[in-house]
Amino acid sequence: HRHLLGIEGLTRPVIVTLLDMAEEAIEVSRRVDKKRSSLRGRTQINLFYESSTRTQASFEIAGKRLGADVMNMSVARSSESKGETLIDTAVTLNAMRPDIIVVRHAHAGAAHLLARKVDCSVVNAGDGAHEHPTQALLDALTIRRNKGRIEGLTIAICGDILHSRVARSNILLLGALGARVRVVGPSTLAPDSLSRLGVEVFHDMRRGLEGADIVMMLRLQRERMAGVLTPSAREYFHFFGLDEEKLAYAAPDALVMHPGPMNRGVEIDTAVADSARSLIREQVEMGVAVRMAVLEALAQHLPNV
Ligand code: CP
Repeated sequence: HRHLLGIEGLTRPVIVTLLDMAEEAIEVSRRVDKKRSSLRGRTQINLFYESSTRTQASFEIAGKRLGADVMNMSVARSSESKGETLIDTAVTLNAMRPDIIVVRHAHAGAAHLLARKVDCSVVNAGDGAHEHPTQALLDALTIRRNKGRIEGLTIAICGDILHSRVARSNILLLGALGARVRVVGPSTLAPDSLSRLGVEVFHDMRRGLEGADIVMMLRLQRERMAGVLTPSAREYFHFFGLDEEKLAYAAPDALVMHPGPMNRGVEIDTAVADSARSLIREQVEMGVAVRMAVLEALAQHLPNV
């Protein structure tokens, strides 16, 4: 593989190899001296057209830990504001001979488009409502470390499934690793047609959580909801917000996840988000490890290696 554009198309052995490589990266990241040299001499550009805290920071830290020169494009101050297209920007950056471009963009398919226009590796850091593959990999790593396996687990992904690239990548990845995946949300945000992806669809939170081993909460992606009647935060929390009462329907040892950013009091109650059953902070640590693994795996296939 020269690029990581999505979970779609990745085989189970490739996914497991990336997770195993990430386990090694966790060890490296917990040392005092975290610096490695596998990407020494390589140039990595982070090109984020949408806001990000976790993904951009962890890709930057991951690249630097592996010895790459990392450049964060400040898109707001780039020539996009003067009307330059994504393709022209990509071709311009390509002429500077980067080895890896990490891209986040509001349009589904943006990473694929870029990959066709440049000579270097492209990593999809989120394209519209399509895919966010490194998020799914870090979620899988977090689950595997806490539950010892993924196969056979019941995983409920709850909230705004329709607009979520995190949900889509997770459905593909967790399905490939043998989990039973449910999606839970109002029919406007979790339509029954999602069952074509091989998931069970629930519109009642308590029924959807029944016996679940992992409860993964998602934010309402209001930035992708133009024209959709959006529920008020209070109303949404009442029916679909995760609090202790609803979580009690899940398995007794169920664990709670959220990719972030969280909207406390909307999709998740503070008491649950900060409880001992929450894996949210561990997910962030796994994010750096998974991104180190992905960059390293791509570097091994770069030209001149
Ligand atoms: N989970 C995630 O992608 O977070 P950011 O938008 O902060 O990168």
